[in-house]
Amino acid sequence: METGPDSLFLTLLLLLHSSHSVSERFEVLGPSDSIVAVAGEDIILPCYLKPNISAEDMTVDWLKLDFLDGRVFRYQNHRIIRDDQIPSYRRRTSLFEEELWRGNTSLKLTRVQGTDEGHYKCFIKAKRWYDDFTIQVLIKAVGSKPVVSIEGHREGGMCLLCESEGWHPEPELIHRDFKGFYRVKQHVIVQETDTNRFTCRVQQSRINEKMETEIHLPSELFDYATPLRMAFTVLCCLGAIIGIGLSLAVYWICNKKGNGEII
Ligand SMILES: *[C@@H]1O[C@H](CO)[C@@H](O)[C@H](O)[C@H]1NC(C)=O
Ligand SMILES: *[C@@H]1O[C@H](CO)[C@@H](O)[C@H](O)[C@H]1NC(C)=O
Repeated sequence: METGPDSLFLTLLLLLHSSHSVSERFEVLGPSDSIVAVAGEDIILPCYLKPNISAEDMTVDWLKLDFLDGRVFRYQNHRIIRDDQIPSYRRRTSLFEEELWRGNTSLKLTRVQGTDEGHYKCFIKAKRWYDDFTIQVLIKAVGSKPVVSIEGHREGGMCLLCESEGWHPEPELIHRDFKGFYRVKQHVIVQETDTNRFTCRVQQSRINEKMETEIHLPSELFDYATPLRMAFTVLCCLGAIIGIGLSLAVYWICNKKGNGEII
């Protein structure tokens, strides 16, 4: 066994080298489950270093994977970098800067909205090492109580319009408003029933939510709608007018005759 100065030097070198690379290495971790957020709330996207070394001298990037370029947030050289920030995240994101020294790089996102749904990557880079972790965020928003309006007679029935907005995820395909919430709007033609009660229900089974509105239509609305009945009503009215006219004429002729006799 050789225990010369050469091998001692080699061992020291190896020790130095390994201790250096160990101090540079870290893992980036976060929750394994996705985060479900209710629209309008503030949320924390957890992310931290293991071991819990300081991230103060590192670059912390929060990226949204659905966007090819643009970032949600960047911390670099001890400063917040706002260039290339996706506009919808402006003034809504922050790090807990007082927590960085212990490896906590969680992101705070305020007033969440529909477009915030997606996958977020927490990417941390030191001088010689980097790692990342991806979190899924789901947004849940229950829309407004549907508003039902009567559009009028159509195709032998009554046309109703049902509208509800502010949903996420999408309860039924239609328009989308600018904050990423869904609005549904649907026409339906109904026929007269025993009760004449109609319900518009908007539901989203993934978040197990629904909203509904009931409307009662007086049956006169439908009566008027039936062309046959309408024709019948017109005929009745015409008949009545002709009848009255005839009796007035007869009365007038009789009166005239009588007057003539007296003279
Ligand atoms: C870092 O983690 C160790 C154990 O994993 C814990 O004892 C220590 O309090 C942590 N330090 C900070 C600053 O959180
Ligand atoms: C990071 O800091 C935030 C804010 O204080 C806290 O809510 C969160 O639990 C911290 N995360 C970790 C992993 O320490």
